Amino acid sequence: MEQSRWKGAVALVTGASSGIGRAVAKDLHSAGCKLAVCARRIERLDALKDELQGTHADFQGFQVDLRDTSSILAMFSKIRSQWGGVDILINSAGTGHMTSLIDGAEDDWRDIFDVNVLALSVCTREAVQDMLRRQTPGHIIHISSMSAHRVPKGAGMYAASKYAVRALTEGLRLELQEHHADIRISSVSPGTVETEFAERVTKSKDLATQIYSRFKTLQAEDIASTVHFILHAPQHMQLHDVLIRPTKQPS
Ligand SMILES: NC(=O)c1ccc[n+]([C@@H]2O[C@H](COP(=O)([O-])OP(=O)(O)OC[C@H]3O[C@@H](n4cnc5c(N)ncnc54)[C@H](OP(=O)(O)O)[C@@H]3O)[C@@H](O)[C@H]2O)c1
Repeated sequence: MEQSRWKGAVALVTGASSGIGRAVAKDLHSAGCKLAVCARRIERLDALKDELQGTHADFQGFQVDLRDTSSILAMFSKIRSQWGGVDILINSAGTGHMTSLIDGAEDDWRDIFDVNVLALSVCTREAVQDMLRRQTPGHIIHISSMSAHRVPKGAGMYAASKYAVRALTEGLRLELQEHHADIRISSVSPGTVETEFAERVTKSKDLATQIYSRFKTLQAEDIASTVHFILHAPQHMQLHDVLIRPTKQPS
């Protein structure tokens, strides 16, 4: 296998306890990155650490509830003291609720925006500060959604959060231009991927199984290989947003 340009770089993956984040973390580990991962379910991160071959000195798992900014900042501070700072940030953590715009609860709406928008922005700000300070040609990738490009019925608030991620991608690109920074920002916008996400949103195993049996879905590894491609494109090439649907997904 060709040596990755990112060998030895410091990568942080949010939401690595399952699904897309976990698959991306595994790929970055095989590319030779020093790997920091976070999620609430620390036992999942411990299991990932055990599963990955190689020296455990290059792995740090953080139990972080992304709705708590102080816990995000503590994680960045630990990464800086151990490894100097973050070179690659993959914002994969995300959440959703079945909630209506007509009679939904603010707690659900706040949860969606706290994780999908605010925490993503805090992590991005901190990573950009690390990259600017150390003058590293870093890369930030938001795991967005096809729901940043069209609004599925019943998912108005979730789609609003992902439309925000789309705006944040372009907003950061413009700010980085002003700074003449050699830092790239990209988004990946998947359609249905078979992960724990449908059960997280519907709170029902049966409904999740139904959702994933309508057509052949994408797998987390399909998204990880797209992230790999984006990261390994030449430095002068910035993939802005990659839209990926399962071939048989109608909407
Ligand atoms: N699956 C799909 O069909 C699909 C389609 C388009 C876009 N996406 C996007 O892809 C991203 C990854 O989702 P996935 O499909 O991999 O779903 P998943 O398997 O449910 O993973 C979601 C991850 O986010 C973490 N997370 C959620 N709330 C958190 C919080 N408050 N604090 C810390 N971590 C939190 C979860 O960790 P803990 O629960 O352990 O904290 C988990 O690791 C999300 O941004 C999602 O919107 C998914």
